[in-house]
Amino acid sequence: MKVLIVGSGGREHAIATSVAKSSKVDKIYCAPGNAGIGQIAECVNIGAMEFDKLVDFAKENEIDLTVVGMDDPLVGGIVDKFEEAGLRVFGPRKNAAILEGSKAFSKDLMKKYNIPTAGYENFTSPEAAMEYLETSKYPIVLKADGLALGKGVLICQTKEEAMDGVKELMLDKKFGNAGNTIVIEEFMTGREVSVLSYGKTIKIMTSAQDHKRAKDGDKGLNTGGMGTFSPSPFYTPEVDEFCKKYIYQATVDAMASEGREFKGIIFFGLMLTKDGPKVLEYNARFGDPEAQVVLPRMKNDIVEVMEACIDGTLDQIDLQFEDNAAVCVVLASEGYPVKYEKEIPMYGFENFKDKEGYYCFHAGTKFKDGQIVTNGGRVVGITATGSNLKEARKNAYAATEWITFANKYMRHDIGKAID
Ligand code: AMP
Ligand code: GLY
Repeated sequence: MKVLIVGSGGREHAIATSVAKSSKVDKIYCAPGNAGIGQIAECVNIGAMEFDKLVDFAKENEIDLTVVGMDDPLVGGIVDKFEEAGLRVFGPRKNAAILEGSKAFSKDLMKKYNIPTAGYENFTSPEAAMEYLETSKYPIVLKADGLALGKGVLICQTKEEAMDGVKELMLDKKFGNAGNTIVIEEFMTGREVSVLSYGKTIKIMTSAQDHKRAKDGDKGLNTGGMGTFSPSPFYTPEVDEFCKKYIYQATVDAMASEGREFKGIIFFGLMLTKDGPKVLEYNARFGDPEAQVVLPRMKNDIVEVMEACIDGTLDQIDLQFEDNAAVCVVLASEGYPVKYEKEIPMYGFENFKDKEGYYCFHAGTKFKDGQIVTNGGRVVGITATGSNLKEARKNAYAATEWITFANKYMRHDIGKAID
């Protein structure tokens, strides 16, 4: 089989690494890819939003399966385009990717189908939003409705902060049209867990936890994710049972009832509150860096699972994970997520050769004059497995030393909560 992967981050490198292990696959392409993906796939210089060019490429090269890793093309309808052209593609259609593309939609869906989540109201007018904030309880959470690179969520401690937030999102349009509608949501406390699943018939992968803030101790700005571990010890069998019953299948069934059948990955962002698990957010794709700890632990042939998902035969698949743990530490460029330098030469990739259980997933890298250089804020994700979380953490931090570049920055407390 020939497989095309759409995307260019650590998540797509992790997907490509799993696809490369499949006995069914002879050739992998990635559009646009990065320097690391280029070692196992042929990178194609087409952007993830250039749907017509991607369709033409897939036809010309007789691609058997296209896997879309990123949110933007999914929400923009790439899957519909591929299907209209008679091409096989893994991912939700536009009318299902809205689960991630519109937070107002997903909140209304949860309300209608009694899926546990924080109390909320949606607003299309800044005046109405500000009036609501006059009598709200604080802290409170403001969310831009649309995609905002994971940065459209504001946690406001006071009324003044929240009023400024409404101005930022709705009037100053900090995230463009993503802030035309906002969700104002009750603040929840508890442990966060990410659970990834293959939908239509829901198949849960293992759990993971992300560390979203830039600095140690969960301080600093929100980022795309500075590191992950899997499994989460807080995701107990009781939590799993509750979520299976009231959240996972309920979500897929709710989408089907709305005529929005979900085929692809559903990422459940959960908060384990004292009143039970509640949905923080849905994503319509693998999490990044969650994919970098979950996929190395998956025993199944990923292509078989994706094909079963497309064909509606997931119920015949027994998803299996190694009885181990994995930790991913992101190496970023100093200054991320605000301002950072690019094109800094990187060294040490050869240290990962033939080291089983160690991975260097490239996120923002490229080749320049035959040398691998940085090309983004999150540069690589260093993942290591171990027989338990503590061992995986020790291994991952040891391996962070193998890669060197100027201005290298990382958090030192990924997975520390498990010690
Ligand atoms: P989201 O993109 O919706 O997952 O939000 C990003 C982050 O903001 C989450 O991972 C949480 O840490 C935090 N967050 C979002 N919604 C809430 C909420 N209702 N209560 C507390 N924290 C939240
Ligand atoms: N790591 C969170 C996300 O992928 O949205």
